[in-house]
Amino acid sequence: MSARVLDGADVANQIRSEVGPAIAAFTARAGRPPGLGIVLVGDDPASEIYVRNKLKSAAGAGLRADLERLPATARLAELLEAVERLNRSDAHDGILVQSPLPPAMGVDAERRVFDLIRPDKDVDGFHPTNVGHLVQNRAPLPACTPSGVIELLERSHVPIAGARAVVIGRSDIVGKPLAILLLHRHATVTICHSRTTDLAGAAAGADILVSAIGRPGFVTRSFVKPGATVVDVGMTQIDDRATVERLFPPGSKRREVFERRGALVVGDVHPDVAEIAGALSPVPGGVGPLTIAMLLKNTLTAAQLRAGGTG
Ligand code: GUN
Repeated sequence: MSARVLDGADVANQIRSEVGPAIAAFTARAGRPPGLGIVLVGDDPASEIYVRNKLKSAAGAGLRADLERLPATARLAELLEAVERLNRSDAHDGILVQSPLPPAMGVDAERRVFDLIRPDKDVDGFHPTNVGHLVQNRAPLPACTPSGVIELLERSHVPIAGARAVVIGRSDIVGKPLAILLLHRHATVTICHSRTTDLAGAAAGADILVSAIGRPGFVTRSFVKPGATVVDVGMTQIDDRATVERLFPPGSKRREVFERRGALVVGDVHPDVAEIAGALSPVPGGVGPLTIAMLLKNTLTAAQLRAGGTG
């Protein structure tokens, strides 16, 4: 048996087709489109791809989207100034500083940046005020990847209420907020992480298993209860042949892609899991497009709220 594929691109298109007319209506009423300011520091190859996709998608949906780039050698003070400028800008309703920042900026750089973004422009949902609102189930701007996973599950008719959900990963960006969103929808939630004992055993109790740790092929068949829904949020760019050969059989499409490009984006979930899961959101084609769709939605919401909630 092969798992039903949860098609993230399809659900993302649904969301975009709902958000598009609302963006057009806001633009007509306000005399300007909702605006998104993105700051990218350095030249991390994965971040380059994510930011390019965000800009393209935002422009395609009718948003104004501006990119400010800073070199990898930029000082934290320069980045904080860029955020302050966007905080003051009337043209920008949403601000996104792409993570990760260069390590040279210091261990607390991300926290200082996210703390500085105005909460009503924080379309990532990372500001402590927005995290608090999320915990209290009243977030106007929920974090994009976690809310994208929820949209994917709900629109694919995967029951959440009463389900046992296991989230592998406890990051501020995905694991923690996703666990809270699942809890608000009445799942019984376990968060697993690097210190969890018998992680495979805990995962195998899940009706809904989500992995967000960025370790290629970590979730193997023994982690999965037959028929469970598995959502792969991991996205790791690999260029070593040994990992590709460990994950994908000779002659497979993914190996062909690797041979052509010399690199491959792979998820946390081993491909064999498709034989045992009931439903599977794969990488690529799963959650990635949803993160962007939710960013467009949050930017529209931020614009509407700044315009007095009527936008
Ligand atoms: N890096 C990986 N995912 C994200 C995200 O959702 N937002 C930001 N700002 N950076 C990221």
